[in-house]
Amino acid sequence: MKIGVAKEIKADEYRVALTPAGARELVQLGHDVLVEAGAGEGSAFADVQYAAVGARIASVEDVWANAELLLKVKEPVPEEYPRIRADQILFTYLHLAASRELTEALVASRAACIAYETVETASGGLPLLAPMSEIAGRLAAQAGAYFLEKPLGGRGLLLGGVAGVAPGRVLVIGGGIVGYNAAVIAIGLGANVTILDRSIDRMRYLDEILSGRVSLVMSSALQIEESIRDADVVIGAVLIPGAKAPKLITRPMLSEMRPGAVLCDVAIDQGGCAETSRPTTHTDPVFVVDGVTHYCVANMPGAVPITSTKALTNATLPYVETIAKHGLMEAVALDPGLAPGVNVLDGRVTYEAVAEAHGLEYAPLYSVLA
Ligand SMILES: NC(=O)c1ccc[n+]([C@@H]2O[C@H](COP(=O)([O-])OP(=O)(O)OC[C@H]3O[C@@H](n4cnc5c(N)ncnc54)[C@H](O)[C@@H]3O)[C@@H](O)[C@H]2O)c1
Repeated sequence: MKIGVAKEIKADEYRVALTPAGARELVQLGHDVLVEAGAGEGSAFADVQYAAVGARIASVEDVWANAELLLKVKEPVPEEYPRIRADQILFTYLHLAASRELTEALVASRAACIAYETVETASGGLPLLAPMSEIAGRLAAQAGAYFLEKPLGGRGLLLGGVAGVAPGRVLVIGGGIVGYNAAVIAIGLGANVTILDRSIDRMRYLDEILSGRVSLVMSSALQIEESIRDADVVIGAVLIPGAKAPKLITRPMLSEMRPGAVLCDVAIDQGGCAETSRPTTHTDPVFVVDGVTHYCVANMPGAVPITSTKALTNATLPYVETIAKHGLMEAVALDPGLAPGVNVLDGRVTYEAVAEAHGLEYAPLYSVLA
């Protein structure tokens, strides 16, 4: 198969969808790998490293025009929409529930669009979201600690405290992968950490692995309202797979928070879990509403591309190999977890939560494949 790797052109995105090590695996399997010139630069991979393992360095036009399977990291941006071809498989993060414009562009393209974030494991886990969630969670705790500093507009509090001075309070809403990793780093910094979740099974698991080091509390509107009043850092880490994030923090709740507190809304890539959140970039990561610093960077792992690129491609490569070897239909049959990854196929929305988010017609994947 002709596999293309496009250079990311979204602001502040330095990751790339394939490492030279991954390119070598694909070349060894007999595939033709085209890497856009400069695609790996941001992750410290030079064109010569890809060329050395047998990939071809190509222009942006060549990559998009020739790739049967196009690999990216972030969703296509408007200038990329016209490049997507009907006979192409696009494999990347899409987060379609958060963008009707992109959903419509992909429907119009008639391409097969597989979203990393909705591919599942046999047990219902999200294997291609997980590595980025680990990184985003760890970064969220770091960002929270950083923006608490007074010169940056924060409360002026050292998250870990010191001997004789109480540490800061971190409230993590959603104890999934982001939430767990945020909690681990916050605990490591010495903070007092509370995790709210709605899944009792997940809380049992967190209780087992974090026993005694965090408070675990059932999430509800009332609990959130009460807990955010004395939090120094709130980390929004909820997810309802494929759907828009629920707005758990309302504007009136925000005004109850401490001035200079930090809200890291990691769920911003699904629309954010606070009413006041809007996406920001690494160049301009924060804004203030009602005295609360909002950190809402939609592509947090992009800040640490060397780590993120390796973590992402470790997870995506086996899927790329399966799709490249068998084609989409057979790959879906071989690995049923790939089926929920297919969000748009042949001009139809094949992921129910995306169709629902935009009031579009939902076509079950197997009806479209048939
Ligand atoms: N901004 C970024 O750069 C970035 C990077 C990675 C992930 N994310 C986003 O972070 C979010 C979390 O991802 P994840 O991988 O941790 O998901 P996950 O599925 O592992 O965890 C989500 C958790 O939220 C819980 N939850 C659902 N509704 C809740 C509620 N009302 N109250 C409390 N908990 C609730 C679930 O029970 C689950 O434990 C997602 O929106 C994901 O897209 C953002």
